[in-house]
Amino acid sequence: MIYAGNFKTNHTRQSTREYLMKMQLHHHKIKEGDRVLIFPPITAIDNYDVNFTIGVQNAYPIQNGAFTGEVGVEQLEEFNIKTILIGHSERREVLGESQEFIAKKFNFFKDMGFEIIYCIGEPLEVREEGEEAVIKYLLTQFKGIDTEYDNFLVAYEPIWAIGTGRSATVEEIASTHNELKRYINKPLLYGGSVKGSNIAEISAIDNVDGVLVGGASLKTESFLELVLH
Ligand code: 13P
Repeated sequence: MIYAGNFKTNHTRQSTREYLMKMQLHHHKIKEGDRVLIFPPITAIDNYDVNFTIGVQNAYPIQNGAFTGEVGVEQLEEFNIKTILIGHSERREVLGESQEFIAKKFNFFKDMGFEIIYCIGEPLEVREEGEEAVIKYLLTQFKGIDTEYDNFLVAYEPIWAIGTGRSATVEEIASTHNELKRYINKPLLYGGSVKGSNIAEISAIDNVDGVLVGGASLKTESFLELVLH
């Protein structure tokens, strides 16, 4: 299983360091073959001496240049960052990233050899139309994306399940993941209100290769509850 923690706009540099040091103390308990990735806010990126992958939640598709407020590859290389989230629904919905821009970003970071966790997810009104509509919608989010790229994972995060406490049901996750795997044969993570009380049933679903966790990743205790379940 892959356990990825997305801190979003939470934690400081200091609290991230404390968090990672605490996590590192439990590293030896992680099952062989399992993997932990942490995505802190950009100000907390540093050279940490830990056995986890540290990635970024976002970056601009440029080496360096005039992109006020953005961070390019030059800034990531300083900390040896080679993993990035692309296409998160908060960036699509709140920051207004278009599929075209997301595809441009994907292709740029692919060319740089980054490990990409590519996020997709439907809004509630699409889920309410049924499974067929969901798959059709999700497949539009792969427009311009090379799904054959080696260093590529997908995270399915239904928007209505993010931060709401209401995870998708086991049946919904199972059928959507099964269908997605028919099109894209890459590691497939589920995200959306994953927590201690539902990790056992979610991780047991066929075709769930990992989880992408927001709220429950913010405290080491609650994240460890998932990672070591
Ligand atoms: P929550 O786990 O808080 O629902 O967030 C999921 C998410 O968006 C992870 O990227």
